[in-house]
Amino acid sequence: MTTLDPVTTTTLVHRASDSSDWWRHAVIYQVYPRSFADASGDGIGDLPGVTSKLDHLARLGVDAVWLSPFYRSPQADAGYDVADYRDIDPLFGTLEDFDEMIAKAHRLGLRVIVDLVPNHTSDEHVWFQAALAAGPGSPERARYIFREGKGPDGSEPPNNWQSIFGGPAWTRVEDGEWYLHLFDSKQPDLNWEHPEVHEEFRSVLRFWLDRGVDGFRVDVAHGMVKAEGLPDWDGHVAMVEGADDGSTGAGNQGPMFDQDGVHEIYREWRKVLDEYDDRILVAEAWVEPLSRLARYVRPDEMHQAFNFSYLTTLWDATALRTVVTASLEANDAVGAPSTWVLSNHDVVRHPSRLGLSVPGSKPQGIGVGDEQPDEELGLRRARAATLLTLGLPGSAYLYQGEELGLPEHTTLDDSLRQDPAWWRTGHTERGRDGCRVPLPWEAKSPGFGFSPTGKTWLPQPETWDRYALDAQVGVEGSTYEMYREALRARRDHRLGSGSLGWVDGLPGCPDANVVAFVNREVLVVANLGTDPIGVPAGAELIMSSAPLTEDGAIPSDTTAWFTLSS
Ligand code: GLC
Repeated sequence: MTTLDPVTTTTLVHRASDSSDWWRHAVIYQVYPRSFADASGDGIGDLPGVTSKLDHLARLGVDAVWLSPFYRSPQADAGYDVADYRDIDPLFGTLEDFDEMIAKAHRLGLRVIVDLVPNHTSDEHVWFQAALAAGPGSPERARYIFREGKGPDGSEPPNNWQSIFGGPAWTRVEDGEWYLHLFDSKQPDLNWEHPEVHEEFRSVLRFWLDRGVDGFRVDVAHGMVKAEGLPDWDGHVAMVEGADDGSTGAGNQGPMFDQDGVHEIYREWRKVLDEYDDRILVAEAWVEPLSRLARYVRPDEMHQAFNFSYLTTLWDATALRTVVTASLEANDAVGAPSTWVLSNHDVVRHPSRLGLSVPGSKPQGIGVGDEQPDEELGLRRARAATLLTLGLPGSAYLYQGEELGLPEHTTLDDSLRQDPAWWRTGHTERGRDGCRVPLPWEAKSPGFGFSPTGKTWLPQPETWDRYALDAQVGVEGSTYEMYREALRARRDHRLGSGSLGWVDGLPGCPDANVVAFVNREVLVVANLGTDPIGVPAGAELIMSSAPLTEDGAIPSDTTAWFTLSS
C-alpha cells in the first residue's frame, strides 16, 4: 500500500572516490577530557579515564578520537587557555598517561587528534608573564598585541572590539598599555606577525607529531591574523536568511576574522605535517559562506574544516538540501572532503536544539526560565538527524555522549556555571556548561559511574540513568545500538567515500518535507514532515531511526536507509 514507484531520477552532486586517505571518510569522536571519564576520583575526567574507555569507542566503531585540550592551564576557559603547550595539566595526568592512552588507541586501530590553541595563550604562559614584566616597547611584548589606549590619558581601549565571550576585547595592564584578547582576559592573543610565534608553533607541532598524534584540531583557525591597523568595527552582522549558498549566519565577521594572512600559516604548517605520514589539520573556523570556508582546505593547507553551516541549519528539508549541496560543491572545488557535525562542546546538544519550538535553532545555552526543549521529540529528531548525517559522503564528527542520545542539561543551577561567557555577558548568555556535563556510564552507580568516588565537577540530571551506557548496550532500539549499527552499515556500504545524488522528489510524494538521496547503492530518506511517506519499490530496509509504520511507511521525524536493487 505504501510502496511507490522505483527511484529512477537523481541529480548527481558528488561522485564516489577511491582515495585511500583515511581522513576523507573518517568518523571522528570528540572527547572532552574533563567530562568523559574520571579515573582519579576527583570528579574531573582525565587521561587514564580516557584510556579506560577506549574499548567503548572501538566497539562503537569510530575511526578516530579528537581530544579537547589537556595541556597545562589555569582552566579559565576549560583548558583553551594554555600555559604550557608541551605538558599535561596535573588535573588530566602526565605525559606518560598520554603515551599510554595513544598507544592503546593505536592498538585498537583508533587514530588520535589533539587540540592546538594558537590564537592565544593563557596569561600564565611564560611568554605573557615575561611580556608583563618587561614593559612597553620590549621584545617580550611584541609577541602579543599590546597597544596604547585612546583618549588624553590612554584610558580608553585602542579600538571598539568586543570579546566573543562579551565585554571589551582589551584589558589594561598596570603600566597603562592594553592587550587584545578575542576571548577571556586570561587568553591574550598572540601576534602572528612575529617570527618567533611561527617558530614556536612549528616546534609544538613537531613535539606532538613525534609523540605519535595523527593530527590537530586547530582552535579559532580563522582568528590568528587581524586586519592591518586594527580598525574599529561596528559589529554589524550581515543577514543571511534564506541564503542559497548554505549560509546560516554562523560565520564570525569583522576585521579580526578570516583575513587572507591566516592561509600563509596553514601552508607553513602543512609542510611540517607532510614530513610525517598521514597526519591531518582540522580547522575550527566559523566562516561563511562555505565557498570561503573551503579556502582553508585547499590542497596545500588544512585537510578538513568543521561544517558549522550544517550544524546550524534548521530542521527543514529545503535548508538541509541547500547546505549539503553547497558543502559538497565548495569542497569538491578544492578537492577536500566535506565534514558533517551536529554537536560539540560549544553548542547546545542537538537532541535539545531539535526539541525547541524552532527546531535546530542555536541558543547560547539553556537554563531555568528559558524555553525547555521537548525531550522525547528532540531525541526522535536527533536520531533522524544523525542517521541523515552518517549517510552523507565525507567525514563525520560525533561529540561524546551523543551516541547515548544525551540531551543538554537545561536546568543547571546558575550558581554552578563555569563558562566565562556567563559572567562576561552580564548573565545574558548561559554559556556552554550544559553540554559539558560528565557522561553517564552506569545507571545505578553514584555519579552514573563517571568517577570511582561518584564525584562530578558539574551535577548530572537525576533522570540520566535512562541514558547511561549500560542501560543501552544490547537493548534493541537504543540510541547506542542505533549508532553502532549505523557506523557498521556506513562502513560496509562505504558511504563515507560514497556519492550523493538527490532523488528529485520521491516518486509518489514529490512535495513532501523530505531529504532523499542516493549514496552508492544506498537510498537515504529523512522524513521531516508530519505525514508518513511511502517506500520506493525495490528498496530493502537496512535500518531506520524509528520503527517504520505497520504498513511499512516512514513516519514523521524518521530517517531510513535502504538498499536499492539495481
Ligand atoms: C574555540 C573553542 C572554545 C573556546 C574558544 C577559545 O571556539 O572550541 O571552546 O572557548 O575557541 O579558545
